Amino acid sequence: MLTSIKNNNLQFESQKLGLMYFRVALILFGAQLLMGLIAAIQFMYPEFLYGLFDFSVARMVHINALVVWMLYAMIGAVYYMLPDETGIEAVGIGLGKLAFWVLTAAVTVVVLVYIFIQIGPGKESTIWFINEGREYIEAPRWADIGIVVVVLIFYYNVFFTFMKGKKTGVMTVMVANLLALAGLYLAGMFFTDNISMDQYWWWWVIHLWVEATWEVFVGTLAAYALIKIIDAKREIVEMWLWIEVLMLFGSGILGLGHHYFWIGTPEYWWEIGALFSALEPVPLVAMFVHVLYDWGKEQGAHGDRPAIKNGPAMAWIVTNAFGNFLGAGIWGFFHTLPQVNIYTHGTQFTAAHGHLAFFGAYATILIGMMYLGVQGAYGVERMKATFKSKMAIFLITFGVLGMTVALTIAGYEQVLVERAELGGGWDAFFTAQALPWMKQAMTWRTIMGVVTFIGFVYLVLDLLTIGKESQKNS
Ligand code: HEM
Ligand code: HEM
Ligand SMILES: [Fe+2]
Repeated sequence: MLTSIKNNNLQFESQKLGLMYFRVALILFGAQLLMGLIAAIQFMYPEFLYGLFDFSVARMVHINALVVWMLYAMIGAVYYMLPDETGIEAVGIGLGKLAFWVLTAAVTVVVLVYIFIQIGPGKESTIWFINEGREYIEAPRWADIGIVVVVLIFYYNVFFTFMKGKKTGVMTVMVANLLALAGLYLAGMFFTDNISMDQYWWWWVIHLWVEATWEVFVGTLAAYALIKIIDAKREIVEMWLWIEVLMLFGSGILGLGHHYFWIGTPEYWWEIGALFSALEPVPLVAMFVHVLYDWGKEQGAHGDRPAIKNGPAMAWIVTNAFGNFLGAGIWGFFHTLPQVNIYTHGTQFTAAHGHLAFFGAYATILIGMMYLGVQGAYGVERMKATFKSKMAIFLITFGVLGMTVALTIAGYEQVLVERAELGGGWDAFFTAQALPWMKQAMTWRTIMGVVTFIGFVYLVLDLLTIGKESQKNS
């Protein structure tokens, strides 16, 4: 991917390293989608690949690849913007490159182990060498430690480059937030056989990532990208950014309580979780307004001059503003009150929210950053959306929305039949699984998954060719 770049116009090694991260991210994104398709087919035909490639493995690789590709794209985005914001090369670029290869080798080994060792007894050694069994962050402990080392190198680069170079508001937020983001990973690393305690800490990583630190992270990306793409005024985007930081942390940190309703934690979490997580959509509205406001304002400021320097990146960032609000804000709010969650907990409703939120809040803007990377690599002033760019964004977004609707219907059926009508036991679960509404929903999810995948193929083709095409046209 992106390897066909002949005219590498990037001045900074840090930015080239950023593109290397983007390439791996894209490959893992593809792997994620394929695994999702396998798991989706297994929902319809449980015997599909049974004994060879079980649902549990397809699902695990699907969601771990998701987290890892996003982390790759995030690191890539930081290495890409670092010299731009600070005005200097990353201080330890050699070490940074080494860390990239170490991480990539480790990820490859971990995935191969997942694929080839699917079943067996769960022993102490399993945690060390095969799988920690913590959804989304299943890497075995040896890899965990490796990840910590790689992240320390990454953070060393970001922090000391920041200290040495220019200090913008965007980078100040980035540097502080990355410390919290990386530090939280440690909460998911130690083992206890008390399942309540294990879940208690596991949510520190999962929730405090996606509803606090990752959100602040994309806030900084949006700020940076708007400056690059539409010449948004730095004072304005930075003002928004600080407001968002305040609100995101204000609601997101205690919003953690919405995962502590039923896992054996004290009941005061019902009130705390209900109140603070219900406030979480507020900063998401602010982020939405931020992007659209800046866009409208800067368009006006430039009159009829072509104000958008990177069409596809801008389109993905606007999709991010909508998607974050819808997937996290609306679909999250639906089931966040304990009175509702007691029925929806762990149904396909959760999966509907998980898909739209991860896609809307993160996949979109990270894809936007990849387009910015391609523009930089080819050194083109202006990059217009091609037919492939449009097909990519349309099919992927339509596909994920379609999957979300299908899963929401499946979740609704589970709430009504499995939970409300039949009381939510083991039999109730299987009765609900066998009903036509569930089956139809699962069929539609698979169809929409294929649509998403076709969009992904367009995306890869576009990222490979749009740079050269823009060079020719300019
Ligand atoms: C971009 C931000 C977000 C992402 C990526 C995200 C993603 C997810 C995912 C993947 C799960 C399922 C976790 C599991 O496997 O158990 C989940 C659960 C949940 N999310 Fe979010 N979420 C986000 C924001 C929000 C917001 C803003 C709210 C509330 C306003 C919310 C409310 C919930 C609730 C209540 C659950 C638990 C569902 C259950 O009981 O089964 N989420 N989220
Ligand atoms: C080809 C498209 C895709 C298909 C067919 C697909 C299918 C699946 C399936 C079958 C599961 C397991 C659900 C379960 O255990 O009930 C799953 C889980 C999940 N997928 Fe996907 N997926 C696709 C794309 C995506 C994308 C684009 C994202 C996010 C960017 C995503 C995020 C997730 C998450 C967060 C979960 C865990 C949800 C939860 O347990 O609550 N998937 N997916
Ligand atoms: Fe949460």
